Amino acid sequence: MGFDAIEVITVKRDRGELSTPQIDWAVDAYTRGEVADEQMSALLMAILLNGMNRREIADWTQAMIRSGERMDWSVLDRPTADKHSTGGVGDKITLPLAPLVAACGAYVPQLSGRGLGHTGGTLDKLESIPGWRASLSNDEMLGVIRTAGAVVCAAGSGLAPADKKLYALRDVTGTVESIPLIASSIMSKKIAEGTGSLVLDVKVGSGAFMKDVDSARELARTMVALGTDAGVRTVALLTAMDRPLGNAVGNALEVAEAVEVLAGGGPDDVVELTVRLAREMLEAAGIADARDPEEALKDGSAMDVWRRMITAQGGDPDAPLPKAAEFLEITAPASGVLTRLDALSVGLAAWRLGAGRARKEDPVSAGAGVTLHAKPGDLVGEGRPLMTLHADESTRFERALDALDGAYEIGASADPGLLPLVVERVTA
Ligand code: URA
Repeated sequence: MGFDAIEVITVKRDRGELSTPQIDWAVDAYTRGEVADEQMSALLMAILLNGMNRREIADWTQAMIRSGERMDWSVLDRPTADKHSTGGVGDKITLPLAPLVAACGAYVPQLSGRGLGHTGGTLDKLESIPGWRASLSNDEMLGVIRTAGAVVCAAGSGLAPADKKLYALRDVTGTVESIPLIASSIMSKKIAEGTGSLVLDVKVGSGAFMKDVDSARELARTMVALGTDAGVRTVALLTAMDRPLGNAVGNALEVAEAVEVLAGGGPDDVVELTVRLAREMLEAAGIADARDPEEALKDGSAMDVWRRMITAQGGDPDAPLPKAAEFLEITAPASGVLTRLDALSVGLAAWRLGAGRARKEDPVSAGAGVTLHAKPGDLVGEGRPLMTLHADESTRFERALDALDGAYEIGASADPGLLPLVVERVTA
């Protein structure tokens, strides 16, 4: 059925409810180029301002899924499980998590993205491994899953093309920060990816999309409902992003930290969240005889999967990782407890050092980023190293230092306002 774009826009502008045929038409006609960018921009802004109910969000999501292919893993003999993070600073969890969950008994087909702004992208991190290839055909993906148990690669252009076009438009029209639009964008890709179960890591805090627990909870509930309604067993954890995750922020620096975790070491917060998410994924996948994730990290079996997965995608897991040419150490101005270390500021600093991109065509530096020598709650000594900045050119340090101005505080005792690592669990 055809509609008039202006009629659809005015329904939402006047706080009305869009019908299923109106939504199907708007998404399809925009993807085909029949609805113009300026008309879709107006509709997106009306949605951002006036919201959508659960039925409208489900219809919008389904319309985006129908715009492209839907993958099918039913040829595999074990359940599939995936995780999606809404993005944060130092969030390298996918790197140890995908091989860990595969080592414990599920298949993990994970389509990931690149970073934009201060949040890093999983593909950018993995591309710092010499030879590693992000783009795989569907047959190659299946081959890597069969060889290694897990695959992390780029989503092909056939998956939810409506979302690609809509996301690019939202990016330049101030319409990214809408819970219905974020939830439908993420879930259309995850449902089209064909996973049987999904664990969502919804980040909360300055370094995340969602700055407070209430909005993170609303986003989590919306996505869990969308997944459940589409037949994907979905749960969400709200997790802390008021400080960076782990001690490394930046592409190769994060790969090195992920490898430490796979070798049985690594920072406590990264290990705790990796193990917790692995348990959630195995439970959601319904694997009754799953191996214990802590054991699989200790006995090297998760590391074995990692090595097979990297090798199967052309990477050399033994090759030295790229390093930045220049570094600068920041020392503590006083002795005491580090009470605050703002995630957004550290993310911005890493971005300005070259770890992130401003436009999606920009290259990223593999070696650039920030290494943290103390986290909130740790004791620090005056003049002792607090963090190290890494960059390919020393001219980048000044703007990174500006980003870190006021980003940390040293006091007498730990700040009771810090979020717990796992804030809440949201189920259907
Ligand atoms: N990630 C997505 O894929 N879509 C959004 O809208 C926001 C984050």
